[in-house]
Amino acid sequence: MRYYIANDLNIFDFDQRFEIAESSLAPFYYDVANKIKLYNLDTFSFFPHIPDNCVDLIFADPPYFLSSGGITCRSGKRVCVNKGKWDKSRSIESVHNFNKKWLIEIKRILKANGTIWVCGTFHNIFSVGFALQELDFKILNNIVWEKQDPPPNLTQKYFTHASEHLIWASKTKHSKHTFNYDMLKTISNGKPMKSVWRDIWEMPSADKSEKLFGKHPTQKPEEVVKRAIIASSNINDLVFDPFCGSGTTGVVCKKLNRKFVGIDNEIAYLNIAQKRLKATINDVKYTSF
Ligand SMILES: C[S@@+](CC[C@H](N)C(=O)[O-])C[C@H]1O[C@@H](n2cnc3c(N)ncnc32)[C@H](O)[C@@H]1O
Repeated sequence: MRYYIANDLNIFDFDQRFEIAESSLAPFYYDVANKIKLYNLDTFSFFPHIPDNCVDLIFADPPYFLSSGGITCRSGKRVCVNKGKWDKSRSIESVHNFNKKWLIEIKRILKANGTIWVCGTFHNIFSVGFALQELDFKILNNIVWEKQDPPPNLTQKYFTHASEHLIWASKTKHSKHTFNYDMLKTISNGKPMKSVWRDIWEMPSADKSEKLFGKHPTQKPEEVVKRAIIASSNINDLVFDPFCGSGTTGVVCKKLNRKFVGIDNEIAYLNIAQKRLKATINDVKYTSF
């Protein structure tokens, strides 16, 4: 049996083949040729194995902690809003402690010019924004994703929730972050360029064609992730997703030729992610771009 010490093991070194005796750290899925890895772990137990300053881009869609037992509308039916135990609503302090804990690790592992995207709604995004500022990241944009197809608000007590936020931040105020202005021009698909340049992205939720291998309760549409990754990274960059769910970030990375490492502690979601990645690798035409 071979043992390792954390500093010997560069989990992100895709060019180095190594055997890991410790089964808890063996990848759940590893595509050597395409440089894609998934790990079935608690993200906090994975961080200690990641060296400092090694990741180009983080795309994080953490728990929003909005599962409070409320009601929403899906396909015309009243259903419970709950997403899973991992998303159960918590006290403000507990949400903030969680966000600060993982963002401290992100700050350490990002390269000097690296950036991070974090998704959220009002349930978590104010805490995320505050934690980023406490940790001396530089907030570059606060994107509003305007959903084209939001569920109606059945309570008739609030406006319909039709948006999510994505905060984009660089490691420090001195970072020379990537912004692929010219590449973005190529993704307008004939729409007016102002719809690409603005910090309001009007896009639908994940399409059925992105859910062929099972449903994740909070699956992001590829289109949202694609715009973020094109804007802020380059071919062969290493993208890390600490809460990867059904693997949307990995699928987009494969299509855009970025290296990818994703973590999730729910094996059912990683099974979906693995199937989506294999389908993408075998036939990149199975979804929309
Ligand atoms: C908002 S969802 C991400 C959805 C993903 N972006 C997608 O498109 O499928 C958050 C994910 O974080 C995972 N998660 C929550 N807490 C975690 C933890 N401590 N470690 C690893 N994964 C965690 C959940 O299982 C869930 O799949």
